[in-house]
Amino acid sequence: MVGISASVTALEKNLETWILAIDKCGSTKEIDEIRRNLLGKTGHVTNAFGELKGLSVDDKKLYGDRVNKIKFSLEDAILNVKIKLEKLQMLEKLDKEAVDVTLPVINNRFGKLHIITSEIRRIKQYYQSRGFSVIDGPEVETDFFNFDALNMPKHHPARQNHDTFYIDGFDAVLLRTQTSCVQVRAMLEGKLPIRMVSIGKTYRRDATDATHSPMFHQLEGLVVDRSPLNIGHLKSELVKFISSFFEVDNVAVRLRPSFFPFTEPGMEVDCRYSKKDGKVALSSTGDKWLEISGAGMVHPNVFKYCGIHGEVYGFAYAFGIERIIMLKNGINDIRDLYSSDKRALQYYGRPA
Ligand code: DAH
Repeated sequence: MVGISASVTALEKNLETWILAIDKCGSTKEIDEIRRNLLGKTGHVTNAFGELKGLSVDDKKLYGDRVNKIKFSLEDAILNVKIKLEKLQMLEKLDKEAVDVTLPVINNRFGKLHIITSEIRRIKQYYQSRGFSVIDGPEVETDFFNFDALNMPKHHPARQNHDTFYIDGFDAVLLRTQTSCVQVRAMLEGKLPIRMVSIGKTYRRDATDATHSPMFHQLEGLVVDRSPLNIGHLKSELVKFISSFFEVDNVAVRLRPSFFPFTEPGMEVDCRYSKKDGKVALSSTGDKWLEISGAGMVHPNVFKYCGIHGEVYGFAYAFGIERIIMLKNGINDIRDLYSSDKRALQYYGRPA
């Protein structure tokens, strides 16, 4: 009797100190140690329960209740500290693993740029680095810019070659059939010299097949100056661009007489090439010629329509963007460039 009474009183006396000690615990290891000391197999509280064994029912209840109270208080205190520690750990973890949403994304797993977009960007960079202006023009044009000012007046037979989409309800408004109309816009500004390129969409009423699409992109180049420019300058410009685009040093270019109403003389541009593994490989030692561009010296009538008079020289040229991309990458069907087949997009896409 005396034994149990003294032990329980001693436990009650120590309770506050133990609870303070529990509150101060800074790790689960420390808590476990205290728990073992008090509530473990041979802990102080557990031992007191052991002492209840030989007591009468009434005493068992009396002292049992007091020991249980101590036990519950200790368990509560332990639980509260555990919860507090877990919260702290979580905050620490969140702090450590915080994602900085302002950091740049390493974009090698997500989307890619479509090959047409990335090649157009590359071409623009090339020209900008050489001091050309890169300008855009509207895709919906009037026939003055698309035809008349380019020396193709209303009944000029050359117009028949351009199967044009006209805009319903408007007299002379159309989807441009060529980027040459941006030449006109640049020249009408009247500031010389001009060194410009324009790259954009053009439209023709063509049935879709392996080499045709009703929408395709063109690159237009124009250089105009008051001091003399000749076919040699044009050719050198073409060689520079072709070497840069196809990433080859030794390019051989041949100019063949041709006709474009807005050039005099007009010419078709061929490049030497050979076939390597079914792909076209441009090289000055190639045994075949490939037509790659249209070009010429600006026709005097075009200068006249654009309000440029006096001594003036100019040359212009155009490339089909899809065509040169297809040649460079061994793509045989233009439709592959517009398909939404994820495998093709993945394969031909370029890192952004
Ligand atoms: N605009 C012509 C076409 O779409 C291509 C062209 C040929 C543009 C000769 C030029 C050039 O600037 O000089 O067929």
